[in-house]
Amino acid sequence: MTHNDDTTDDDAAATGAQYAADELDTTHVSKVDGGTVALAFSGGLDTTVCVPLLEDLYGYDEVVGVTVDVGQPDAEFVEAEETAAALDLEHYVVDATEEFADLCFDSVTANATYQGYPLGTALARPVIAEAIADVAGDVGADAVAHGCTGKGNDQLRFEAVWRDTDMAVVAPVRELGLTREFEQAYAAKLGLPVEGGNEGDWSVDTNLWSRSVEGKDLEDPAFVPGEEIYDWTTEPGQVTEPTLVQIGFADGQPTGVSVLEGAESVVETAAEAVTDAADAGEAKTAVGTGKPVAVIEFLNALAGAYGVGRTDMMEDRMLGLKVRENYEHPAATVLHAAHEALEGLVLTKDERDFKATVDDEWSQKAYEGLVHSPLSQALDGFLDVVSEKTEGTATVKLAAGQARVVGRDSEHAVYSESAASFDTSTVDGIEQADATGVAKYHGFQDRLANSATSETEDEESTETTVTADD
Ligand code: ARG
Repeated sequence: MTHNDDTTDDDAAATGAQYAADELDTTHVSKVDGGTVALAFSGGLDTTVCVPLLEDLYGYDEVVGVTVDVGQPDAEFVEAEETAAALDLEHYVVDATEEFADLCFDSVTANATYQGYPLGTALARPVIAEAIADVAGDVGADAVAHGCTGKGNDQLRFEAVWRDTDMAVVAPVRELGLTREFEQAYAAKLGLPVEGGNEGDWSVDTNLWSRSVEGKDLEDPAFVPGEEIYDWTTEPGQVTEPTLVQIGFADGQPTGVSVLEGAESVVETAAEAVTDAADAGEAKTAVGTGKPVAVIEFLNALAGAYGVGRTDMMEDRMLGLKVRENYEHPAATVLHAAHEALEGLVLTKDERDFKATVDDEWSQKAYEGLVHSPLSQALDGFLDVVSEKTEGTATVKLAAGQARVVGRDSEHAVYSESAASFDTSTVDGIEQADATGVAKYHGFQDRLANSATSETEDEESTETTVTADD
């Protein structure tokens, strides 16, 4: 490891180890005698201090850092690479964007949200955990480690995957009860390469599907944040010309997006936001050929320009804590709206009602980071079958902070224009007057029940009167 220039590496390590040992309660630390640990590494303060702690306090002789790409901004990879280099850390970057985008599309099939949040962080964690476990296996690691606190959801989501391997699981921040204050002092003591964080005061988690902002002044649920907490979405109303997009679906999954009409310069800028330039044209013009990553990137930029997809909410975490969360998720908002609209056309009422229950259960497991649970797999079986008819398009109008569905079309529509129309009197030989019998029976049981109740009440009040007279 490299540290600041006034000390030799050994001195710094010794000082750091001593400082940490003096300051921290190591009761929950499982010390080892060497070995390799693969650490989920972002280059932020938490994971950076984990590196010397894993060596000096835990006793690992090699730490390998793994950063998994699920669509974070480029600056985060630069930070991770630079910090890893300064720490002399063996560092791997794994691209899991496509796999993650596929899971995001699965979540569209399940209309998956948790208390209104489209699950970006939650869906990413199993993907990240699996990628890290793979690297850990490849380098022959004895353990895997994360820098999550003991208060959040992510520790549970990571470990649900890792505890299925034969590697040890290490959680220094939780096991040592680290505070931000200690981390900063420890980093200063060792001359670790940490900056204040790349997004100001808040704790931010960004991937393809959502950007989450929490902490500091946002911890007060009554605090009204300014525009500065947002990065993906412009204040609604800035772009005045609406854009109409058409989303294609097959088997309940988005297949692409095309712009029907709208604000050309906004559309151009959005197309430039697509990482793989070759996919940008597809994302923009051709329903049926869009690649998941490109579709998401394009819609995040396009709908983001309209201020679509902001959520400010109180979230019930798995451990029971309520937290105030702010999210941005423009693409998720558009795709969910379009998908639900198409389902409204192709599914029967019974299917829609039952699917709402399945969707809720799927979302709950996804929030828990358990998308591979037996229950989730069984739910996937239902979703696969019920979604076979969810094929067609939905047209969405982007304007002033809203993604509003304005049309839908499918060959599988459970819909007869003539049956629903005011202009035809007979449908399939059924006349309007045929509904008379149905109308006579409608509410029959309720009327019966209500009259039985009122008769009993009448009798009781008569009895009371008699008693009073006596
Ligand atoms: N509360 C959300 C979840 O558990 C996201 C938290 C993201 N983390 C952050 N530091 N902003 O899924």
